[in-house]
Amino acid sequence: MKKTIIAPSLLSANFASLENSLKAIAEAGADWVHIDVMDGHFVPNIAIGPAVVESLRKVTKLFFDVHLMVTNPGQYWQHFQKAGANSITFHDEIEFDKMPLIEAIKASNIKAGISIKPKTPISKIERLLPYVDLVLIMTVEPGFGGQSFMKDMVPKIEYLRGIIDKNRYNCLIEIDGGINAQTSSVCVEAGADVLVSGNYIFSSNNVIEAVKSLFI
Ligand code: DX5
Ligand code: ZN
Repeated sequence: MKKTIIAPSLLSANFASLENSLKAIAEAGADWVHIDVMDGHFVPNIAIGPAVVESLRKVTKLFFDVHLMVTNPGQYWQHFQKAGANSITFHDEIEFDKMPLIEAIKASNIKAGISIKPKTPISKIERLLPYVDLVLIMTVEPGFGGQSFMKDMVPKIEYLRGIIDKNRYNCLIEIDGGINAQTSSVCVEAGADVLVSGNYIFSSNNVIEAVKSLFI
């Protein structure tokens, strides 16, 4: 069976010691780190700019999975790519032509992802599936860490898994929001490839053991 990718979210880490957090999650066997970017407009919170990403890039080889929760991803994505992002994921809910941005991100030799909030159905992004490297399904309303996993998102994961497998799309399914040792297995059984987890990992007394508990 293929190994699930664990992407700890720095949003819940201690911002005064991010280098230590990166070391701990790498030691636990995580290959990715999830970086939430918030503009105070698309979501009611502000977090992590390109200068922070650039500094972190110098101290780790982890895959930087950048989740842009911003109203204008076209204006900002390159700053994150130049700072060392390995993937850029932006939201479908913003009204603009998504294909040119997906193509531009991929042309810069990093992965391109599309994300949907809980109320957005898979049908809205179906036409993009042949072109994106990952789909990020939000299982909480975006904006804050530490919220509860929305169980009614599980059929959405299963439905997307079915479409990707049937068409043999080369596209990962990533789940973001409320992931802990229980909800992780539910998501993997439904077909998830990548699990983001913030509060569960970083509020734990033992970050390394918390990351390890998520590997299915
Ligand atoms: C929420 C962010 C998530 C968040 C997940 O808007 O996109 O990545 O950090 O945190 P937890 O695992 O605490 O729900
Ligand atoms: Zn996220």
